[in-house]
Amino acid sequence: MRRNKLETPPEFMLRLKRWESHEGMIMSAAKSGFNGILALKAALVTEKAAMAASSLVGRGDEKAADQAAVDAMRTGLNNLEIRGRIVIGEGERDEAPMLYIGEDVGSGEGPEVDIALDPLEGTTLTAKAMSNALAVMAFAPRGGLLYAPDVYMDKIAIGPGFAPGIVDLDKPSAENVKALARAKDVPVENITVCVLDRARHADIISELRAIKTRILLITDGDVQGVLATTDRDTGVDMYIGRGGAPEGVLAAAALRCVGGQMQGRLHFRNEDEKKRAHRVGIDDLNAKYSLRGLASGPTIFVATGVTSGSLLEGVNIQDGQATTETLIMNSVDGSVQRLQSCRPL
Ligand code: FBP
Repeated sequence: MRRNKLETPPEFMLRLKRWESHEGMIMSAAKSGFNGILALKAALVTEKAAMAASSLVGRGDEKAADQAAVDAMRTGLNNLEIRGRIVIGEGERDEAPMLYIGEDVGSGEGPEVDIALDPLEGTTLTAKAMSNALAVMAFAPRGGLLYAPDVYMDKIAIGPGFAPGIVDLDKPSAENVKALARAKDVPVENITVCVLDRARHADIISELRAIKTRILLITDGDVQGVLATTDRDTGVDMYIGRGGAPEGVLAAAALRCVGGQMQGRLHFRNEDEKKRAHRVGIDDLNAKYSLRGLASGPTIFVATGVTSGSLLEGVNIQDGQATTETLIMNSVDGSVQRLQSCRPL
């Protein structure tokens, strides 16, 4: 499933350009402590969360797996020298005892950081020992991430390397696929769209079937679904559909680092969900968020595989050693690193 990752020339050139034009930003971000060291420290935290959840892979207990990841992530965060605040977390204060929205984490010294996290993205995937469960986190300076409530979000995303405005959330899915096929100069049959396998997506699926686009249906885990568009080896060209808004912000943070495109709009099922949005300061309930609207500032994104999938190997425990694989993306210098760690248990 996995490949040996080598940078393709156009993407590399794109990153190089972004690096040059953002040199000033890099310097000031580095000075403020928002740098590669912080990214590596963040990776340690998702590694710990993934390792904790891994002991519950295939045990049929979603809650226990989630709790293990939450506990480990919280301990890890509190060991970091940051003045961190959770902006996307396990829920609102009255419903989540740990890593709730607004909780302060970190040692209380160091850079001020807004944190979006999902200690276990894919609780069901973990409980059923299925692919693509991740421990995920994004860091941004204060105000750099949309404070999204825990509601649904309609999303569309493509990877890097295309002219702006190729896709539009308000256009029919088939039109978006045709536009991407034109941009890639391939027939629509060669485009693969990742969609969460849900009844609510029946219309999108039949529209895409009608134009003979390939559809990768996933049972869970749309952060990974969006992320897959950034890596050619996954074969995924586009992500379309409605999933969690917190997951939308996390995915956007990753795309901010590698230059993809994404749009999202919150979807409310009732008045209570609208109140949740107002509570986090969202007035325009119908706003269409661009990638920058979702993740506006310099961003660090880290994800460690819990179970193996198309992007990352899962935690592997053998002979008293735990091996983890983590993706580290940093919008400040446009870097993407893959970190394999091996440590005694
Ligand atoms: P969990 O990590 O809480 O299991 O969520 C997984 C997930 O599949 C997300 O990736 C996705 O955004 C959301 O659930 C979809 O929600 P629903 O299952 O209600 O369709």
